[in-house]
Amino acid sequence: MSWNDDEGVSNPTAGNYFGDVLNDVSRRRLLKGGVGAFVASFLDRARRAFGQSTSLVGFESVPVSQEDQVIVPPGYKAEVLYAWGDPVSNGPEWDPTAQNSWEEQAAQAGMHHDGIHFFPLPYGSANSGRGILTMNHEYTDDGLLHIDGQASWSAEKVRKSQAAHGVSIIEVVNEGGKWKVVRPSSYGRRVTAYTPIRLSGPAAGDAALRTSADPTGIAVLGTFNNCAMGYTPWGTYLTCEENFNGYFVNGGTIPPNQARYGISKDGAGYRWHEHDGRFNAATHPNEPNRFGWVTEIDPYDPNHTPVKRTALGRVKHEGATVTLARDGRVVVYMGDDERFEYMYKFVSSGAYNPSDRAANSNLLDSGTLYVARFGTAGAGTWLPLVFGQGGLDASGGFSSQADVLIRTRAAADKMGATKMDRPEWVAVNQQNKDVFLSLTNNSNRGASGQAPTDAPNPRVANVFGHIMRWKEAGSDPAATSFAWSIFALCGDPKSTDANKKGNIKGDAYGSPDGLWVDSRGVLWIQTDISTSTLNAGDYANLGNNMMLAADPASGQTRRFLTGPRGCEITGVISTPDLRTLFVNIQHPGEPSSERNDPNRPGAVSTWPDGPGISRPRSATIVITKDDGGIVGT
Ligand code: FEO
Ligand code: CA
Ligand code: CA
Repeated sequence: MSWNDDEGVSNPTAGNYFGDVLNDVSRRRLLKGGVGAFVASFLDRARRAFGQSTSLVGFESVPVSQEDQVIVPPGYKAEVLYAWGDPVSNGPEWDPTAQNSWEEQAAQAGMHHDGIHFFPLPYGSANSGRGILTMNHEYTDDGLLHIDGQASWSAEKVRKSQAAHGVSIIEVVNEGGKWKVVRPSSYGRRVTAYTPIRLSGPAAGDAALRTSADPTGIAVLGTFNNCAMGYTPWGTYLTCEENFNGYFVNGGTIPPNQARYGISKDGAGYRWHEHDGRFNAATHPNEPNRFGWVTEIDPYDPNHTPVKRTALGRVKHEGATVTLARDGRVVVYMGDDERFEYMYKFVSSGAYNPSDRAANSNLLDSGTLYVARFGTAGAGTWLPLVFGQGGLDASGGFSSQADVLIRTRAAADKMGATKMDRPEWVAVNQQNKDVFLSLTNNSNRGASGQAPTDAPNPRVANVFGHIMRWKEAGSDPAATSFAWSIFALCGDPKSTDANKKGNIKGDAYGSPDGLWVDSRGVLWIQTDISTSTLNAGDYANLGNNMMLAADPASGQTRRFLTGPRGCEITGVISTPDLRTLFVNIQHPGEPSSERNDPNRPGAVSTWPDGPGISRPRSATIVITKDDGGIVGT
């Protein structure tokens, strides 16, 4: 049986994303947003109450693939919408030989598309035919970005790399069943690694955020390594600064705070410091403190200055997934993606105001940041990171709440948080408030001198990763305790190693990363198998990176999409009617070194332009069903 049987009443309407039918504020908004959503939710609960089994996932699985193309199930099509170098508005066209200047790059799609969201136009509508797509450009491959790669390294090349980072905001429209980028558009713009951004919240202006260029400590240039994301019910985008440490170098003695975030002598090879002195963390020791934040962008206001929300803490942010507490306070779930790092959540002081958009503009500036302790036997606790509590005071080496937030990892260490196997994306089922967390992998789990296995991270050398699920006490996202379980241990059922078989019900996958629960309740899973292990070793049977759909009730999982060679799949969102899916294909053609040889740019992949144009490009693709139906059914 498929969901098609219920399609008539399952058609959701915008405005229900954050709906909690038990909450009066949200109920009003839900009904205002669409009676259909409320009815669908009611029927869904009624069906469960009567024990009827349904499958949310109705398409035919695709097999694993090593092809250099995107493959989707029969009855679906995938088309490229917006690839690296495509103009944001009416800017310059992409040069396939990589000779665009940095100024041109700043008016084009950046590299390495990641988290993405669709904001209907106009604001407050449920329009599924026109909207704003906002997406991250996580990092660059300088072997593809410049005609001769990192040879003859220059200030121009650094600036072009910085211009290829950040965020794209583009207007898109469906004309006669075909999606296209609107050009020109008043909404189209780029945020880059040098865009002026404001710091706000408890740490803004703190001495540790002041630099010679910014003695106020509130004016930062840029956001970069923007990985996963979130979006708020007031229509803003949250972009997350992940591996910011790799852009800095420190050839001197590395202070503890920089070491705790992985700042090293050589960085990750971006070489920005050679022509932009602020990336030398020895001479500009406070500059790294200005990264590792969640940055809020208003896509509906082209003149809005992005804001770094320090109340949400400073980690290698992977996602900022928003839901509402029963009393309307805003809850944000956030992973810190590194081996043995922690899971966080923020609960705002104030409540969301659905009738006054502007009233929500500073909700993310005050509240409580928590870190998770996953106890044994499925019990979990949220530990507050509050100056003056739990040893986060002078005796523990902390001087203020700003200090706690700037050194979030150290504060979480002090509180005894649980070391996890790389917390990546979080997805919330907005109907029942179930939370899902991907733990992508951790080959060091249980290694000599490292944390041993424990109940929430149960496998030694966890090469395939797992997905966790929890429910907050009383199904209230603001609760300080929760009950967790493991939704799936990923793996290859054909493995001869019992530790690597996993327990997936359905199609096999490993290294889960992107997660999203759509408004029907389907859990979409995207994989990021490292290009160093793709199609080799333990991953020999799993093919290229992929996207799957799972029914959370049964656990049944089907492979929906396989990507081209060398890519990861990351970032997914639908239109409110669930009939168009936008998915990001990141770094097709990436070799295991993560930087291409500029002399052989098509060595691994030539997707999406084909062999004639040999430079592969990250891209947003559009997936629709041939019959115009709901994607995934
Ligand atoms: Fe950028 Fe943790 O993935
Ligand atoms: Ca990721
Ligand atoms: Ca990843």
